Amino acid sequence: MKTILITGASTGIGRATAELFFARGWNVVATMRTPNSAREDGRWLVTRLDVTDPASIESALQAANARFGQIDVLVNNAGYGLVGTFESMDEARIHKQFETNVFGLMRMCRALIPQFRARGEGVLINVASMGGRLAFPFYSVYHATKWAVDGFSESLQFELAPLGIRVKLIEPGAIKTDFYDRSADFVHDRSLTAYNDLVDKGMRRSNAFGARGASPDIVAAAIWKAATDGSARLRYPVGSDARGLLFTRRLLPDGVYRSLIAKQLLG
Ligand SMILES: NC(=O)c1ccc[n+]([C@@H]2O[C@H](COP(=O)([O-])OP(=O)(O)OC[C@H]3O[C@@H](n4cnc5c(N)ncnc54)[C@H](OP(=O)(O)O)[C@@H]3O)[C@@H](O)[C@H]2O)c1
Repeated sequence: MKTILITGASTGIGRATAELFFARGWNVVATMRTPNSAREDGRWLVTRLDVTDPASIESALQAANARFGQIDVLVNNAGYGLVGTFESMDEARIHKQFETNVFGLMRMCRALIPQFRARGEGVLINVASMGGRLAFPFYSVYHATKWAVDGFSESLQFELAPLGIRVKLIEPGAIKTDFYDRSADFVHDRSLTAYNDLVDKGMRRSNAFGARGASPDIVAAAIWKAATDGSARLRYPVGSDARGLLFTRRLLPDGVYRSLIAKQLLG
């Protein structure tokens, strides 16, 4: 029986992924900062794991290996968005965003790759975003983290494929989860008046986009495909918006594409 370990499994995409793999008979290690699941089942292990806390990663992996013997698939899902005006963001906030979305993800890869390499197999699934290949206003630092995850993953797959380890990038469009409200770290200093109208309009429109987002179940289904299809495919765009926008971005000249986005979100 196969085992999957998921970070950020308390809500949203992580939670939906944990439920899907459990329903399909896998062992599930649902890791989260604040364990919140009361399910009693030998195939379901909830452990505390904060991707910014190396000791919590080590003890979660020990618990997972002790219960299930090995981990076959890692899903790096934990993440959140630092949003708002870049000028309002202090260094601590910017570092925390990278610490979670990029360094936390790399820390998880470093923790799991040795056991994958020793067995000559394993699947490493990074939840990036369509925003890892394109960008929207007022998400500058969040996009920087997802573009980092994108480049990191594309490079890593070259060096891990010959070892039998498959690297996958999940690229969701707008998904209706806590991402746009509870989890979002929104910052705008209103004394920077030049931005006020623009940021109000931009955030209203992008939050409306999020509110119309698809179910996290479609991302869980894409993660299932990535974990089980046995292919060398790297990218899995999820949702009609992600597929449409990534295609449009490839098709249109850069300036035309950007003026479309500006008109949609700020015009
Ligand atoms: N929703 C979208 O439209 C969308 C689109 C593209 C990509 N994504 C990506 O999808 C992933 C999941 O987001 P979601 O939409 O499912 O939002 P969500 O419901 O807010 O889930 C985010 C998860 O990440 C966890 N998390 C945050 N910081 C963490 C840390 N330091 N260590 C461990 N876990 C941490 C949260 O834990 P707590 O419960 O403790 O806060 C929560 O479980 C993120 O990487 C996000 O960037 C989302």
